[in-house]
Amino acid sequence: MNIHDLVIRGGTVVTASDTFVADIGIVDGRIVTLGTGLDGREAIDATGRLVLPGGVDSHCHIEQLEADGSVHEESFESAARSAFAGGTTTVIPFAPQFKGEPIAAHADDYRARAARSPIDYALHQIITDPTPDVLDREVPALVGAGVRSLKVFLTYDPLHIDDRQFLAVLAAAKRVGATVCVHCENYEAIRWRAEALLRAGRPEPASHAVSRPKLVEREATYRAIALAELVDQPIHIFHVSCAEVAEEIARARARGVKVTGETCPQYLVLTAADMARPGREGAKFMCSPSPREAGDAEGLWAAIRAGTLDVISSDHCGFSFGGQAGKWLNGADSDFTRIPNGIPGLAARLPLVFSEGVASGRIEVTDFVRLTATTPAKRFGLYPRKGTIAPGSDADLVLWDPTRRVTLTNALMQHAIDYTPYEGHEVTGWPTLTLARGQVVMRDGTVTATLGAGRFLPADLPRDARPRGLVPDGFDAALV
Ligand code: URP
Ligand code: ZN
Ligand code: ZN
Repeated sequence: MNIHDLVIRGGTVVTASDTFVADIGIVDGRIVTLGTGLDGREAIDATGRLVLPGGVDSHCHIEQLEADGSVHEESFESAARSAFAGGTTTVIPFAPQFKGEPIAAHADDYRARAARSPIDYALHQIITDPTPDVLDREVPALVGAGVRSLKVFLTYDPLHIDDRQFLAVLAAAKRVGATVCVHCENYEAIRWRAEALLRAGRPEPASHAVSRPKLVEREATYRAIALAELVDQPIHIFHVSCAEVAEEIARARARGVKVTGETCPQYLVLTAADMARPGREGAKFMCSPSPREAGDAEGLWAAIRAGTLDVISSDHCGFSFGGQAGKWLNGADSDFTRIPNGIPGLAARLPLVFSEGVASGRIEVTDFVRLTATTPAKRFGLYPRKGTIAPGSDADLVLWDPTRRVTLTNALMQHAIDYTPYEGHEVTGWPTLTLARGQVVMRDGTVTATLGAGRFLPADLPRDARPRGLVPDGFDAALV
């Protein structure tokens, strides 16, 4: 009897906890059966392949409006192509807010852009102007609509908020039940060093790393954690670049504070030396925090193995290198303070993490799934619909060849950006087929991305993001 629409037959299924050989039976885009000898109207042979849950990229910038009126060059359509090419089936991009404006000023525009998405998505909301109206009226309405994570920046003009504003965001998130994600770098220290670098005649991309050493990230991470502890509001630290910062997270976790951490492939593969390449080339590697020194990646892997960092996202940014809209938006001779921060990495994320992690013996394949799919889905309230292979979950699956060796090129990334910072990087392990809710969206590199096929995923509040019920001295300032 053909009870399934589709069966993925004979692959090695990998979840965050187990690997086992099984068939996967799919009906109406959902997994309904794990077993052997399953029948279906159609079948895909997965013999010799790993079968992984589709990647969940919980931090990527897609078609994002910036305060200067520019828009990231990766559209939802091109981002989906790139994501599917690299085995990712869920993305969480960012809706903007700018100072002096309510969230509503750009909400309809961003929702309309996202409605064209070929890939399933949840949303983070950036908060740059936490007025009482934003926090008491707009944020609760957002949470009611399924947007449950707020991102704040402790640095960057014109996005950064001060400590008092950060406390207000934390308190509002606690009252309403939202996750707070934090960009941790010290605004004033970076400004101070950047101004000195310019006075010293050092405007080139390599100065980016010098302007923001590990210390400024570490200080802001400690401060963010301390303020979150004061409010008793869990926080998630984005894009941790080095072991010294992870150490602050580990220290806080050891005393019971609910803080979690993410890192990204750029901190595992790139270094500050990449920004010192001749001419303007260094701009291709500029992101914040800065990539660090050779050797720092091992410290991050240790923090990953220890569970201090438990999400690896791409922090994908669509700024092209040629032309005038991307890295040279502010002029071809821009100094490092005027070059947009961020680099593309949607498609490269899974191959880089598999290769550097699993193929290199640093982590197990179950860890790979946990870091790139399961925990991101849990952290942002999408689990078990996303991030695992189980009856009832969406049939977002990736067939993965663990031994295929590939040299990364920009063409393989299938994004709208004219370069990849990973050009020429050799990886072992590659996605050969991607299914999104039971539909083949990539087979041997050929991608199908249907406009509007992606669904908005309303987020739940995960346990990780719930307050402990413990404030210093018992006085809960967030609730009065
Ligand atoms: O350099 C980066 N990471 N740019 C993107 C914005 C952010 O801070 O996540
Ligand atoms: Zn950030
Ligand atoms: Zn980012």
